[in-house]
Amino acid sequence: MVVGAGGQIGTELVPHLQKHYGYDNVIAADLKPEIVERLGTFSRAIPLNALEMEAYARVVKKENIDAIFNLVALLSATGEKNPQLAWNLNMGALLNSLNLAKEYNCSIFTPSSIGAFGENTPHDMTPQDTVMRPNTIYGVCKVTGELLGDYYHSRFGVDARSVRFPGIISNGALPGGGTTDYAVEVFYEVAKRGRYTCEVPKDTYMDMLYMPDALEATTQLMEADPSKLIHRNSFNITSMSFTPEQLFEAIKKRVPSFTWDYNVDPVKAQISASWPDRMDDSCARNEWGWNPKWGLDEMVDDMLAACRKKVENGEY
Ligand code: SER
Repeated sequence: MVVGAGGQIGTELVPHLQKHYGYDNVIAADLKPEIVERLGTFSRAIPLNALEMEAYARVVKKENIDAIFNLVALLSATGEKNPQLAWNLNMGALLNSLNLAKEYNCSIFTPSSIGAFGENTPHDMTPQDTVMRPNTIYGVCKVTGELLGDYYHSRFGVDARSVRFPGIISNGALPGGGTTDYAVEVFYEVAKRGRYTCEVPKDTYMDMLYMPDALEATTQLMEADPSKLIHRNSFNITSMSFTPEQLFEAIKKRVPSFTWDYNVDPVKAQISASWPDRMDDSCARNEWGWNPKWGLDEMVDDMLAACRKKVENGEY
């Protein structure tokens, strides 16, 4: 069961899980009726507010759910606009998911993030186990989620696993309200207008991942031999690290007419500066065989082609 299935990750995780485990074995749940309708065109989709425990429990029981992918989250930049809402939503959905996993013996995957790190974390080759003092409500939720995942595992035997996703670049559903969103938006704007105004400072490095690798990481970790896992919540994973300027130069090589400028958002500037420049993901590589396939150049080629097609079809 994928909860919060209508977002950037869920929109592509649902078909990925269907491919692995069969169409009928995947339930996609989301809050908003119009999103459930869209999900319903390619999956078994149901409306669900993950904060309503009784309704959530009914589905888990009725559908015999054995694995929960909890993707409900308000992202970093939006979270700063309403920290209380971010806490209630992010933690409420996670606690309900963990408690249901405990009660109905489900495994559970909840993404953590580069947002779990903060200013005083080592920024270059950020270690797996290091200082975690984020100064965003999103990051506070992510660190809490990691601790809860490990706690539910050691205390109640819940099979909770997760990764710290970097910015995820994709061409299914758009991300919303994140600090790394620029690295997705730019491709649509290139296809549509040939120019882009970026809200993240030009020289800020952040880790990124292309969606096919993010999906592979999710199923690979959930299927990993538990006896090999030294860590559980949560693994550093990354496949590339770049600044906005480096990404835009890579696009310009392929689209010479592309132009860009900056209108820096102070909140995004502060958040992005506090996150790692480049993570060390060797624990994921050693413990469950993490081995990403997509680097910057292949990703840029693929994104340009996909977004051009979407713009031509009037989908953006
Ligand atoms: N993509 C997320 C954000 O920018 C990070 O996990 O908020």
